Amino acid sequence: MATVRFAPSGRLRGSVTAPPDKSISHRAALLGAMGSEPVRISNYLRAQDTLSTLEALRAVGALVEEHADGTVVVRGSGLREAREPGGPIDVGNAGTLMRLLPGWLAAQEGRIFVLDGDSSIRRRPVDRIAEPLRRMGADIRATDGRFPPFVVYGTPLSPIDYEMPVASAQVKSCVLLAALAAPGTTSVVEPAPSRDHTERMLAGAGVAVDRRGLTVSVTCTDELDAQSLVVPGDLSSAAFMIAAGVLVKGSRLVVRDAGVNWTRAGFLRILERMGAVVLADLEAPSSVVALSEPISDIDVSAGPLVGTVVEGDEVPLAIDELPLVALLGCFAEGETVVRGAQELRVKESDRIEGVVEGLRGLGATIEATPDGFVVTGAGSLRGGTIDAHGDHRMAMLGAVAGLASAEGVDVVGMEAAAVSYPGFIDDLTALA
Ligand code: S3P
Repeated sequence: MATVRFAPSGRLRGSVTAPPDKSISHRAALLGAMGSEPVRISNYLRAQDTLSTLEALRAVGALVEEHADGTVVVRGSGLREAREPGGPIDVGNAGTLMRLLPGWLAAQEGRIFVLDGDSSIRRRPVDRIAEPLRRMGADIRATDGRFPPFVVYGTPLSPIDYEMPVASAQVKSCVLLAALAAPGTTSVVEPAPSRDHTERMLAGAGVAVDRRGLTVSVTCTDELDAQSLVVPGDLSSAAFMIAAGVLVKGSRLVVRDAGVNWTRAGFLRILERMGAVVLADLEAPSSVVALSEPISDIDVSAGPLVGTVVEGDEVPLAIDELPLVALLGCFAEGETVVRGAQELRVKESDRIEGVVEGLRGLGATIEATPDGFVVTGAGSLRGGTIDAHGDHRMAMLGAVAGLASAEGVDVVGMEAAAVSYPGFIDDLTALA
């Protein structure tokens, strides 16, 4: 395991291009594999998670070409023609792949698929997708009823109306992908809006997708017509640069070409409330399904912060950035509270425990609650050592904490950043 030291930094200056979006890369490759026409994906993320997706799709019959300029061409086998692989499909560390791929595989009649992954994946529940898929007629058997490795026995599916108990884009997407092969119309009701990349991409590929309030419906199809897709920059990766720019005194930086889909931009709205000067051309919330993904440059300056409360519908819109909200809270005046975010406990690591123990070890005043944390801001952070626990976002959190701290931070397990942002240290160094 690599321990990397991040020393207190002088002001950050310059511009950085956000790496390609992980969520959208996974979906674009999947859509390509599910179609029968070649799909050209520009700006595909070449990171551990999304390379796991390309390997998994090859295993089920897709031809995948990776070009040096970041373009990936996927030639799929067709919606109902996934091939049964010779052995287990390895999803690596990729929760999104583990939850979305079975939506397609469940309808592959007469074929059997085993999905497995690393030690973190084996702790992440799959009952949340098995439950709606079983209601559609799928046959899925998981370890202890809820964990990988698990087996999908392909069988004909029927449409359902499904009320989701948690706001999860992964679960929603899984059901919507299964709906493509279930004769009729399937509807999913979310408790609160979650990222809508799947809906946009399916609508863009000619699928009948309808949104009414919190209900999204998809009608089955024989063909997907995607052809070419462009992946925007990943706002969740950019968030680390943005937080560094806000926290390191005197900083001024621009993040170029970041995706600003409103269902992903909760973090920018939280930052604004905390008093940060972060300017972007944000997409306005919309009740209809857009066909594309908006992008914007994001202008960031350092400045004083005040505490805030993050709860309710805002949680799914900033779910991967909540650890950064805790770090920002350490530097803010007053209290920063995150509640209603129990989903953080089933991410790549338990991000409530990891954030609270990790930041406390760096000198923060922070308490865990069952569904979030409470941070009492001190205007500064001492520094020390933090363990990434194999979680890419925890590793990058430690790095940003180091730059903004008084004494620097040693991050144990920094290599985890390669799951979503292999160029993270280079980009950070270029800004410093
Ligand atoms: C993702 C959705 C989120 C997020 C994850 C990626 C996606 O998970 O935390 O990093 O690509 O759909 P949930 O939808 O389970 O909250």
